[in-house]
Amino acid sequence: MDTETLEIFRSITYEKSGIVLAPKDEALVQDRVSRRMQELGLASEREYAELLLNDKMGQETDHLVEAIAANVSRFFNDSDQFDFIAEAFAKWKANGQIRFRLWSAASSTGEEPYSLAMALAEKGAMLSGDTKILATDINAQALKVCKQGVYEQRHMAAVPPAFRYRYFDKVLNQGVATCKIKPEIRHLLTFRQLNLSSPPYPMHGPFDAILCRNVVNYFDQSVRQSLFDEAYRLLRPGGYLLMGDTENLDGLNTDFESVQQSIFVRPEKDVEERKKTLVTTSVGRRTGRRIGVLTRRSDERKPDRRVEERRHLPKIPSDVKNVYIHAGDVEVSSEPCVFSTVLGSCVSVCIYDKTAGWGGMNHFMHVGLNSENPLDTKWGLPAISMLIQKLQGLGSRPKDLTVQVIGGGKVVEGITMNIGHKNVEEAFSELKRWGVPIVATDTGGETHRRLRFHSHTGRVELL
Ligand SMILES: C[S@@+](CC[C@H](N)C(=O)[O-])C[C@H]1O[C@@H](n2cnc3c(N)ncnc32)[C@H](O)[C@@H]1O
Repeated sequence: MDTETLEIFRSITYEKSGIVLAPKDEALVQDRVSRRMQELGLASEREYAELLLNDKMGQETDHLVEAIAANVSRFFNDSDQFDFIAEAFAKWKANGQIRFRLWSAASSTGEEPYSLAMALAEKGAMLSGDTKILATDINAQALKVCKQGVYEQRHMAAVPPAFRYRYFDKVLNQGVATCKIKPEIRHLLTFRQLNLSSPPYPMHGPFDAILCRNVVNYFDQSVRQSLFDEAYRLLRPGGYLLMGDTENLDGLNTDFESVQQSIFVRPEKDVEERKKTLVTTSVGRRTGRRIGVLTRRSDERKPDRRVEERRHLPKIPSDVKNVYIHAGDVEVSSEPCVFSTVLGSCVSVCIYDKTAGWGGMNHFMHVGLNSENPLDTKWGLPAISMLIQKLQGLGSRPKDLTVQVIGGGKVVEGITMNIGHKNVEEAFSELKRWGVPIVATDTGGETHRRLRFHSHTGRVELL
């Protein structure tokens, strides 16, 4: 596979799922995409990469991520953790708690959430109280298996014989002897597709425990930081975070406290100010962003002070709308609104109408125009035009608009084709064509950005 083709796979995988592939993963990518290429009747990886670049609905990109992300899972993998959480559950119950919410955040084909359900059932989860386990994964196919809850005998080795008897029915599935999870256990679970690299997550919590195991090693520090910020928000004080045995929170800015290897607790009392020094490299890398062509551009434009870098973002007041912008979204609001997103090589253009006191934001990932679908706002030209036109639709005049351009990082290590840089160039030239002034930029570099744009003040915050 040529380097550029590999880079296309790497960047699309990263943008979609947060999974970081290294240049040395060429053989892995080749192996994992080969089956899908066969199904599609494609002869070369390049053809498949091009199909992905033109994937308007994102369906093929889902297939790519499913192929790339390994979903190997085992019942009672790391069994100490299930003992730990079962004991905690028994204590909570003994203290009078009756409602329990737990989340298996990368549930794969179901072995993890069903192990959890069986461990809790042993402590009386089905006899009294209200216990629910949320099982989520990015992989729709894995979730389907999870929902079915049917496993071949060879997957059952780690399930104690007594549990097999109590919690599984033996069924013949196309002539093969299988074990099907009993309905009373299955009913403890609900299933949802969720991408952990795309915060904020739609749940409100609070959860008593979150299992986020054997998935974070796929992600870089920036995706991990936002994932564990979300896990912290969603856990109740005193709730537990369980990770895989090779995973930890090293280098992250978080108030989780360690309980034992790979188990963390959200402290009963939140620390008001996070005292730990930010040890991720993002601030250092941001400095790196000022180097090169983009430095000159940023300096020429004399960015104003509205682009703020912060350690963590303050809470959004309840009377202000909060809208998450996914790749391809273009949103404007005449009401007070905070638009937020996470950018890798993608770019967001934030436009503020200083006279009207409103604004809007987009998030695009490709350069130019998709000739088959010129309105596809995953592409830079329509994303920018549509944003300006939507503001004009609200009554904005071009002379009242000011623009801030954020993103375009070179976020996948070792990649030579700088997609982020191309996205930024696209934004600059298209905005010039529209004649709207750019007052601040924060572009390039080698890091992700979490971005918030306050549409009613024009303020941009970055984490
Ligand atoms: C190795 S399996 C781990 C399964 C289970 N947690 C365990 O420890 O047995 C990794 C799972 O993470 C899922 N995954 C990868 N990237 C993800 C993402 N961005 N969001 C949600 N799930 C993801 C994969 O689909 C896969 O099912």
